[in-house]
Amino acid sequence: MYRTHTCGELRIGNAGQTVTLAGWVQKSRKLGGMTFVDLRDRYGITQLVVDATADAPLVETASSLGREWVIQVTGTVVERQSKNAKMPTGDIEISLSEIKVLNKANIPPFTIEDESDGGEELRAKYRYLDLRRNPLQKALKLRHQIAHEVRNYLDAKNFLEIETPYLIKSTPEGARDFVVPSRMNPGQFYALPQSPQTFKQLLMVAGYDRYFQIVRCFRDEDLRADRQPEFTQIDCEMSFVDQEDVLDTFEGMMRTLFKNVLNVEIEGRIPRMSWYDAMDFYGSDKPDIRFGMKIHEITDKVQGHGFSVFDSVEYVGAINVEGAAEYTRKQIDEITEWVKRPQVGAKGLVYIKINADGSIKSSVDKFYSAEELKAVADYMEAKAGDMILVLCGAKRKTQTMLGVLRLEMGNRLGLRDPFNFAPLWVVDFPLFEWDDETQRFYAMHHPFTAPKPEHLELYYSDKKEDLEKVCANAYDFVLNGTELGGGSIRIHEADMQQRMFEILGISKEDAEYKFGFIINAFKFGAPPHGGLAFGFDRVCSLFGGQETIRDYIAFPKNNQGRDVMIDSPSYIDQEQMDELFLESKASKE
Ligand code: AMO
Repeated sequence: MYRTHTCGELRIGNAGQTVTLAGWVQKSRKLGGMTFVDLRDRYGITQLVVDATADAPLVETASSLGREWVIQVTGTVVERQSKNAKMPTGDIEISLSEIKVLNKANIPPFTIEDESDGGEELRAKYRYLDLRRNPLQKALKLRHQIAHEVRNYLDAKNFLEIETPYLIKSTPEGARDFVVPSRMNPGQFYALPQSPQTFKQLLMVAGYDRYFQIVRCFRDEDLRADRQPEFTQIDCEMSFVDQEDVLDTFEGMMRTLFKNVLNVEIEGRIPRMSWYDAMDFYGSDKPDIRFGMKIHEITDKVQGHGFSVFDSVEYVGAINVEGAAEYTRKQIDEITEWVKRPQVGAKGLVYIKINADGSIKSSVDKFYSAEELKAVADYMEAKAGDMILVLCGAKRKTQTMLGVLRLEMGNRLGLRDPFNFAPLWVVDFPLFEWDDETQRFYAMHHPFTAPKPEHLELYYSDKKEDLEKVCANAYDFVLNGTELGGGSIRIHEADMQQRMFEILGISKEDAEYKFGFIINAFKFGAPPHGGLAFGFDRVCSLFGGQETIRDYIAFPKNNQGRDVMIDSPSYIDQEQMDELFLESKASKE
């Protein structure tokens, strides 16, 4: 037996016992002829001690130990003289009688401590060392725990976990596919699934009326803190359900996760907001409702006063930042520069301050009387001490910019506590998005999403303005400003699916080539069905109070989609290229 106990479990009650532990040397130090060693494994740290009076070889081995060496030790549990209340094992130490070096280690390139001295790049290169650190071990443990709770919940609700293939035909989820050449079918490629969308629908046709899978998905898209090229979904589908049944089931799942993992009670029903309200009042399809500061349209309140900047635009909108009237000129200039950055894209920023004494100060004093500005302030329910920030331009674009500014002001005012959880369902999305550049409609969710039953007439209309009004039977689960999950009630009739492809400008032949299998399946008794998928990595990171998902994935990619530890992607041999009938246009330099 390598060990009788882990490094996290011995307590004062074990005093007097002879134990064997194994683990890594966190650090070792000498004090008055004694050698103290901190031995670490994933359960904790235990202090080891070798007395100056011990056998010479033991003293020698103890003093030779380097950081991260792997050792096995045997000794007696004794009460410590100077206890450490911060460590669960801090009341005891092991007085050693034997040390066996199982493996020496190079000096690690960074410290394996909660706060490491290693930069991100270096830690990514030695990910297996980074993973020894406490915060990452905690993150992966949380991930395991959430997966376990998800499986328990769904199993109790009769869901079956069924695997679907990774080498498939492209599924349209809006990103680029990663593709895999087929040696046995020269010139042909598999695509890695962006999600198991079509397979889970086929499982519904096959009668498996409650399916789930914790499954890897692959999308070749630009990466951000909450996006990885390969990520994991909690993917679900149900038959014989309407929107309400799906929302109920997964509201229940999230409530259970919050309770069992974080001991957080989500009070009452999770609120719902239409996509239109989300855009109008929060400038985002994933509103952070932990704080107010809603967007107000003030176009008709400020146009027609001779201020050409406002007069010449479609939309003027504003947010009221409570308590911000104290902002100095310099601070306002800084926020103005911030909104002008290309990432936000505003041309300028107007402010209206309601000073503590009720007087008004604004960057557009010249064009508006104090009464006119006061009327805007009253409309926005701004009080003495508040500051209104105004942006203008095209409607949706300006609302989006105001949404970004709102989040920034929320950050600056400390209104976005990561452990204050405010979940929300966003519903009633438009089914289609019009793209001016390509002059065609795109599916806002994916092309298997059904229109709302009350919008069927609009769905079959030939007019662009009718199609723009069609709402999707779709929903997103949003937590603290992040889209955690999304889904929809699906189309289950071949004709309606064919109509969808027609609106999206996909020809009959093309639809047949790409989606013939699913259109065909719908002709063999497809039940009404719907479902959703949660971004599992995002659920984990938000439960852990972090915005970036990378720490919740054991071996993630960097922002260039590279795994710098294994150095991938990489070139392959000419022989391998030939076997796959491939020729590369890129030079290796
Ligand atoms: P959707 O595309 O909305 O829906 O994806 C579902 C959820 O997956 C997460 N997600 C990601 N997480 C990390 N990195 C990424 N690159 C990434 N892309 C998406 C998000 C998102 O809400 N088949 C549909 C679901 C359905 O209709 O049932 C789908 O994939 O949290």
